[in-house]
Amino acid sequence: MTSQSKQRVLTGITTTGTPHLGNYVGAIRPAIKASTPDNNETANDTDSFLFLADYHAMIKSHDPEKIHQSSKEIAATWLALGLDPEKVTFYRQSDVPEIMELSWVLTCSTAKGLMNRAHAYKAAVQDNDSAGADADYAVTMGLFSYPILMAADILIFNGQKIPVGRDQIQHVEMARDIAQRFNHRYGEHFVMPEALIDENVAVLQGLDGRKMSKSYNNTIPLFETEKKLKKSINKIKTNLLEPGEPKDPETSTVFQIWQAFSTVEQTADMRSQFEQGIAWGEAKKCLFNLINQELAEPRERYLEFMANTPALEKILQQGAEKARDVSAPMMASVRKAIGIRPMAS
Ligand code: TRP
Repeated sequence: MTSQSKQRVLTGITTTGTPHLGNYVGAIRPAIKASTPDNNETANDTDSFLFLADYHAMIKSHDPEKIHQSSKEIAATWLALGLDPEKVTFYRQSDVPEIMELSWVLTCSTAKGLMNRAHAYKAAVQDNDSAGADADYAVTMGLFSYPILMAADILIFNGQKIPVGRDQIQHVEMARDIAQRFNHRYGEHFVMPEALIDENVAVLQGLDGRKMSKSYNNTIPLFETEKKLKKSINKIKTNLLEPGEPKDPETSTVFQIWQAFSTVEQTADMRSQFEQGIAWGEAKKCLFNLINQELAEPRERYLEFMANTPALEKILQQGAEKARDVSAPMMASVRKAIGIRPMAS
């Protein structure tokens, strides 16, 4: 099968923050599984693009060290967990200058009214309103125009299926609007992308029982040391039921996380242990062992990558080269279409 006849699946990860168990269960593990051919029939018909969205990170953070560190951690995490850079085009957004170039071109044909409707921007305005602040307080043009950059990320590679969380569906729809408008004015360049939502993926609870998320500060980092992992698991909120008292698995974060890492049989077994009144300390010990078993080996590889950043850099450079084989001709064709071309031809 040639690469054109394969379906292009493309997604980005914003480089703010350290990967946690929720990212792993909700995004990383399913994405790696889906991109591993042989394991999986559809992977053979798929041409996967996965990138570190480091220019997107600037929308959320102006801390250079944080953005840099997070890029390293995210790259090392995906590679340690088995992403194969030979099979997946794995790159850093900032290494593909055509993305930024296209972003400006699209900015010039995107209606401001479309951006006014973006949820992230509207939420910021709403927050300002509730706080009695000026509507534009702390709203940068980066935040406002962010869906255009995301459209450029997708359209420059003609990404077709875009695996994202629910909060990002609107942005993929905006990318379609933006693509359509460009195609209409300048001729067919872009295919229409579609959001791909995985209904089966678990949303993990955090230490306090709310969704595990860095904005709630309730996360368990994916590759913290064994000792720290044990400590984190011990911090998961439970009720005051004593050992021997039956416990409700359905309302327990310990059980919910257990389920995300266990086989069907292990889940059934833990359910009956809850009914028989397993002590919280014991349940947490079991949970630690289960998670650690799955993560111990990748953790070693992660630490190796983190200690060998030249190797990480090399992989990303090779990924950027493959990506630019696609983005450079696309941008050349866009430039020609909009009238920016050499005088002599
Ligand atoms: N905005 C996405 C997020 O916050 C990350 C992202 C940036 C992305 N560019 C993308 C996802 C392009 C899919 C396609 O999750």
